[in-house]
Amino acid sequence: ADMERGKMLEAHELAAKLYHYLLLNTTHGAEALQYLRNRGISDKLINQFSIGYAPPQWDTLARFLTARKFDPQLLERAGLLSAKNDGSGHVDRFRGRLMFPIWDRDGKVTAFAGRVIGEGQPKYLNSPETALFTKSRTLYNLHQAKASIRKSKQVVLFEGYMDIIKAWYAGVHNGVATMGTALTEEHCAVLKRSAEEIIVCYDGDDAGQAAALKSIAMLEKAGLKVMVSMLPKGKDPDEYIEEYGPEAFVREAIGQAVSATKFKLIYSRKNHILLTEEGRKNYLLEAVGIVAELDSSIEREVYLKELSREFEIDLHALKQDSFHKREELQ
Ligand code: UTP
Ligand code: MN
Ligand code: MN
Ligand code: MN
Ligand code: MN
Repeated sequence: ADMERGKMLEAHELAAKLYHYLLLNTTHGAEALQYLRNRGISDKLINQFSIGYAPPQWDTLARFLTARKFDPQLLERAGLLSAKNDGSGHVDRFRGRLMFPIWDRDGKVTAFAGRVIGEGQPKYLNSPETALFTKSRTLYNLHQAKASIRKSKQVVLFEGYMDIIKAWYAGVHNGVATMGTALTEEHCAVLKRSAEEIIVCYDGDDAGQAAALKSIAMLEKAGLKVMVSMLPKGKDPDEYIEEYGPEAFVREAIGQAVSATKFKLIYSRKNHILLTEEGRKNYLLEAVGIVAELDSSIEREVYLKELSREFEIDLHALKQDSFHKREELQ
């Protein structure tokens, strides 16, 4: 089994080198390269993230690796090749896609994500779960980010590959991303081991905000201090950087991240119509519930005072409700 793992790792390393070479040195790759440049990805970033290109042919990687004595069955188990339907051999799993190597925390390539060039489905094709690769445990870019995370005790959590790459360009070197799956307790445990604080920087669309709410709860449960980056409606970090520039991203999106409580209050607010008395009351009840979850009475008081001022409700009434909600939580 160790030998099989070793062979799989070797195959991934070679595949990453081949795809990277094909992106930079072939006419087919030129189109993919242009696509990357149009998206603001410089050659420096292409090298930093070893981005590559899988040509549209059926057997580019299959030929390359079988010529080097790799067993096609093993390559299939590694998620690099797929068996043909009629059982007559193997084809490349990734074709006509931009290739993003996925590394484990030691920097070994264990999987790939392949993006279509332009529009198409699926947008990203990921490696399947293999002996090398478990989505629920993997965080993209952890191997490059871990030094910066350990130094700053802070980590930034993104949704996507492009967000990580563009944020790196902006100087944010402590970013990691899940693999298009929801955050798991295993991810949280990994993060908690090297960071104290986390900034959740998800897409500024409804799906991203709903996902943020879920991730925040898990991260708080794992004992991390959680901050949330508020992106303008509909923008993801990559688009934000493209539109407003890297400095604005660091200054506004990262630098002005709000507390998890603030984020939950803003989120709850959007679900209530504050123009009606009923809506205001329901929001206040939910808001007090959110504040009640805070363990620090000073923090609770700060938020309750704000609510008291804005809604002209007696602070004592809010405190009393918050107290009862806390009793329910115990
Ligand atoms: P998004 O749809 O937000 O894509 O999915 P993106 O990261 O902004 O990609 P670009 O900028 O259009 O290239 C967020 C993440 O969800 C996963 C990927 O990890 C992606 O980065 N995903 C998305 C998939 O795994 N497969 C898909 O088909 C789509
Ligand atoms: Mn290179
Ligand atoms: Mn999205
Ligand atoms: Mn996105
Ligand atoms: Mn994007």
